[in-house]
Amino acid sequence: MAQSFPLPRGCPYAPPEEYGRLREEAPLVRAQLPRGEVWLVTRHAEAQRVLTDPGISTDPATPGHPMAAFTERPPTPEEQEVRRRFQVGQFIDMDPPEHGVYRRMLIPEFTVRRIREMRPAIQEATDRLIDDMVEAGPSADLVEAFGLALPSLVICELLGVPYADHDFFQSRTRMMIDAGAGGESAVTAATEIRNYLDGLVTEAEREPRDDLIGRLVLARRETGELTHDALVGMVFLLLVAGHETTANMIPLGVHALLRHPDQLDALRADPEGWPLAVEELLRYHSIVDWIAFDRVATQDMEIGGQAVRAGEGMFVLGASANRDPRVFDDPDTLDVGRGARNHLAFGYGVHQCLGQNLARAELEIAYRTLFERLPNLRVVGEDDELPFRYDGVIYGLAALPVTW
Ligand code: HEM
Repeated sequence: MAQSFPLPRGCPYAPPEEYGRLREEAPLVRAQLPRGEVWLVTRHAEAQRVLTDPGISTDPATPGHPMAAFTERPPTPEEQEVRRRFQVGQFIDMDPPEHGVYRRMLIPEFTVRRIREMRPAIQEATDRLIDDMVEAGPSADLVEAFGLALPSLVICELLGVPYADHDFFQSRTRMMIDAGAGGESAVTAATEIRNYLDGLVTEAEREPRDDLIGRLVLARRETGELTHDALVGMVFLLLVAGHETTANMIPLGVHALLRHPDQLDALRADPEGWPLAVEELLRYHSIVDWIAFDRVATQDMEIGGQAVRAGEGMFVLGASANRDPRVFDDPDTLDVGRGARNHLAFGYGVHQCLGQNLARAELEIAYRTLFERLPNLRVVGEDDELPFRYDGVIYGLAALPVTW
């Protein structure tokens, strides 16, 4: 019988225990979804293959796409049309060559140089948030006061979205994520964010400012290659992808380091080690796991010795690939010095995370500054009391009470 999926996490700090067994069983394992079946891609090599094969699509409209198996019934043609319109500009769900048209417009915003230029502003935002925590302290919820606040501030500044509205878009993003794949309230929340961004883009079309939305508006006027709706879709994708992921990684990384004091001591002794530590924390937590790695074969093929037919869906288990012993020695151990640069936490291939340089800068500055400024930082309470969120979508902590 096919493995039922998604799988629960037994220990909140580790991927579902079954992943290890499935990975040893085969690189591709058949699994049962609420409506239909899917291939789970369990190993690193096959994960890279799936994420780069031009015969594999990520477009949810491609027949057999696995996300369709989470809804209670197939969408009506009207619903499909609404989704189509909603998806305009959201290139994470597009295949080449259309995907590249949008991605290329944004590449100049995320180069290593651009992110280096943003570092002083990220540092300043980090210091300000820690100042506020210290003033209100000596305890705080690190998720609310820091983890969510920092990436939201940074992405708002980059895009030109007023940070004053952060309660609105953060709560709607949480609703989208907590409702799980395909839930009704997820659609409502996404529509609300989209309508809000539509207003901001309309304003920028009247009077563009020097922010990402303004720059895209100007570029669009010059070349005419970007419609209003597509611009709204791109900004939607950046806003949602740009804060929720990093927001989960900050508290999880802090928690992991507080639970591995030897690793934290090594970083205190050698702060040059932070960039590699960030890579290891990304590998270790693999917060995206399978949710963004939804793919479907568009032609018959063989992957890892397994025949896959056109129209068969796949989920790449990022959290399993990142603990594949074929690639990482002693993969369940957190080792901040291991140099885990080939992890798949940011994906692989054409869809590899566009914001990865920004996320790395935010994580490095956040962890380093927090541990420097609050050397006595510790978690309040026991680990088994901490509210972990894992509904199969993005993995994180709902709260992390700390004191210093
Ligand atoms: C720790 C933080 C982050 C993690 C773990 C993460 C993870 C990922 C992953 C796994 C993908 C690939 C999805 C796929 O293969 O379909 C992705 C794509 C993407 N990410 Fe991130 N991300 C993070 C932060 C960010 C930030 C800060 C931004 C933007 C400011 C961002 C923007 C994007 C965009 C636009 C895509 C779509 C790229 C494409 O389809 O070409 N991400 N991210």
